[in-house]
Amino acid sequence: MAFPEGFGWGAATAAYQVEGGWDADGKGPSVWDTFTHQGGERVFKNQTGDVACSSYTLWEDDLKCIKQLGLTHYRFSLSWSRLLPDGTTGFINQKGVEYYNKIIDDLLKNGIKPIVTLFHFDLPQALEDKGGWLSETIVEYFDKYAQFCFRTFGDRVKLWITLNEPNMFALLSYDLGIFPPGVPRLGTGGYQAVHNLIKAHARSWHSYDSLFRKEQKGMVSLSILAGWVEPADPNSASDREAVKRAMAFHLDLFAKPIFTDGDYPEVVKSQIASMSKKQGYPSSRLPKFTEEEKKMIKGTADFFAVQYYTSRLVRHKENKKGEPGAMQDAEVEIFPDPSWANVDWVHLVPWGIRKLLKYVMETYNNPVIYITENGLPHNDLTSLDDTQRWEYFRQIFQELLKAIQLDKVNLQVYCAWSLLDNFEWTQGYNSRFGFFHVNFDDPARPRVPYSSAKEYAKIIRNNGLEGHQ
Ligand code: NOJ
Repeated sequence: MAFPEGFGWGAATAAYQVEGGWDADGKGPSVWDTFTHQGGERVFKNQTGDVACSSYTLWEDDLKCIKQLGLTHYRFSLSWSRLLPDGTTGFINQKGVEYYNKIIDDLLKNGIKPIVTLFHFDLPQALEDKGGWLSETIVEYFDKYAQFCFRTFGDRVKLWITLNEPNMFALLSYDLGIFPPGVPRLGTGGYQAVHNLIKAHARSWHSYDSLFRKEQKGMVSLSILAGWVEPADPNSASDREAVKRAMAFHLDLFAKPIFTDGDYPEVVKSQIASMSKKQGYPSSRLPKFTEEEKKMIKGTADFFAVQYYTSRLVRHKENKKGEPGAMQDAEVEIFPDPSWANVDWVHLVPWGIRKLLKYVMETYNNPVIYITENGLPHNDLTSLDDTQRWEYFRQIFQELLKAIQLDKVNLQVYCAWSLLDNFEWTQGYNSRFGFFHVNFDDPARPRVPYSSAKEYAKIIRNNGLEGHQ
């Protein structure tokens, strides 16, 4: 029941979801500040991250939680506009640098390794005003920001995540318009953003590689979201093909170019090209990489970081009329098995994580894998007893053990989402993913452990499930 010696146990947070201090000490606004301040019921009860868990002033309390769990790794993100208020290195906010220096130094003093995400959805508003991720200029801005972070923190930070869930982010922000900037651009905006996200990631990896790696000796990757998918009818060849397309359109969309050959999956290119034609576009809505860009993109990750929450069934769904949208381009219909229990959108499918890990191992040449997020919300907002939720985590750990021991997957780190209850994007504070409960009505924002916190601490102490010392 034991995990390999030295296995990493972490928990994750993200700047906008926990920090608060939205305009403190010279921080510039991010797109989430703008979006939440505009109201309009796009976020549950028009809640904002203005204060959130107040981690900007309560870092010491967060550290206590981290130590109580006994984490070996803590994953957090830098707020780009706290460091560079207008997104550019033209002006550096020293107070922001000091805040993150303190976090990093305190973690290291306590023997905890920081995993630092550069971009977790909160683009500086000033850069959104210049076109955001739809504009190619973002590649240069991101690279400069990344270089600034490597230069400033890289003497101590050895694990970097450039982008958090860029696949989900592109879809929600620039295609469906559910996240800021909140403008739907069905079937076009998402792919444009994906294109620039991939290039920005690759550029910053090269910057690390050529300017910092030798001295700093760290690793750089990106965290891709991947749900597991099964054919709705396992006996149907067209459903099985649909499953491949579903994987190609979400995990492989980023993983194939970055981990193999610098280009999108063939089926993604052909599906979008033929739909675009049907819709009367002069060329494919999916932008193309030049040969030079493909060379630049290929091989730009030092480990494989993946985030798993849930699974779905997939059915082939022909798009005869050429309806717009990513799902329509993929010609798939995606839905949960009605027999799977769920908390909100998270259907409880622990075995999906093992299948996903095996897929990554087999498709991407047995890479070192980090799970940088996994979790589920607590289903009772009034109770600190989350025994049921813990049962799901236990099953997840059992699946991870099978993946490591039976499938020989090279999994080295697991980070749960999340250390604290926090601002769950459009669901506001109505969805609780933390090991620590946070009372958002109390100005002191007290952190109180759920029952699962004790259980997670035990697993970490034992480096495995019960039965092993
Ligand atoms: C993934 C995102 O990275 C994180 O910000 C979010 O809170 C969790 N999923 C849960 O939805």
